[in-house]
Amino acid sequence: MSSNQPYLTFYDGRRTPQLGLGTWQVTGDATAPAVQAAIEAGYRAIDTAYIYYNETEVGQGIAQSGVPREDLFITTKLWNNRHELDSAKSALQESLDRLQLDYVDLYLIHWPVPKEKMYLQAWEALIQMRDDGRAKSIGVCNFNADHLQNLLDKTGVLPVVNQIELHPYFQQTELCAYHADHGILTEAWSPLGQGQVLTDPVIQELAHQLQASPAQVILRWHIQMGHIVIPKSANPDRIRENFNLWNLHLDDAAMARIATLNKADGRIGPEPELFHVMKG
Ligand code: A2P
Repeated sequence: MSSNQPYLTFYDGRRTPQLGLGTWQVTGDATAPAVQAAIEAGYRAIDTAYIYYNETEVGQGIAQSGVPREDLFITTKLWNNRHELDSAKSALQESLDRLQLDYVDLYLIHWPVPKEKMYLQAWEALIQMRDDGRAKSIGVCNFNADHLQNLLDKTGVLPVVNQIELHPYFQQTELCAYHADHGILTEAWSPLGQGQVLTDPVIQELAHQLQASPAQVILRWHIQMGHIVIPKSANPDRIRENFNLWNLHLDDAAMARIATLNKADGRIGPEPELFHVMKG
């Protein structure tokens, strides 16, 4: 039930559902039905990005859901080649036009691309977008602590959220501690490790004990860790399964066992300091 799901509050006073639908690699005709299935199951948060090339279809799913706009929480992201101030401002408008929305609830810088030295300008653009109301809250993805500190030092404004790769094999403990110290919420992308953590023996054993699926165990771990979490699925059954977490509880021993799964080399996606794809 949408009314029973947990929400978290940003430092700017706005709030977000803690669990949303991720749409990376959900493309074409599969997209609008996935969004509709999610909203029907009770999801109120949908995460997309310019570079997923599915904003139009996400917008169609939202429009067809019949749920009032103010009950939904929609996130999209600025791509790497649009960090220049005016370019960033028009990129948001282009995303809004594709989504058929007047505003997004959260607009994120997708990657810092630090070698380009442009993310501060992008951040200034996001601050202006927030002030003009087209982005209710603003944040970043894939920033490390140095990048976050640079935003604070140069603009005095911190993101409400940093969306990072985070799953039991890559728990990002230090960066999460920085977030907690600075009032930034941690949002986990690839929360299931792109599916790779589902077959882990510890996760499988806990799933068996708790009579839950491996995905539910991992997602419940994220919820109890306080992460915002956006599992991707294009399959309506799995979309529903991933939202059915509210009666599940991991005790301290189960949480401690999952904590041991962290691996120094557990990152699956790109290293943010080096990621430098400018084509879009
Ligand atoms: P599918 O879209 O076919 O459901 P992540 O969010 O960590 O990137 O993981 C996404 C991957 O996990 C996708 O391959 C997705 O496949 C799969 N997945 C998502 N939910 C479940 C689930 N409940 N059970 C099994 N696989 C899942």
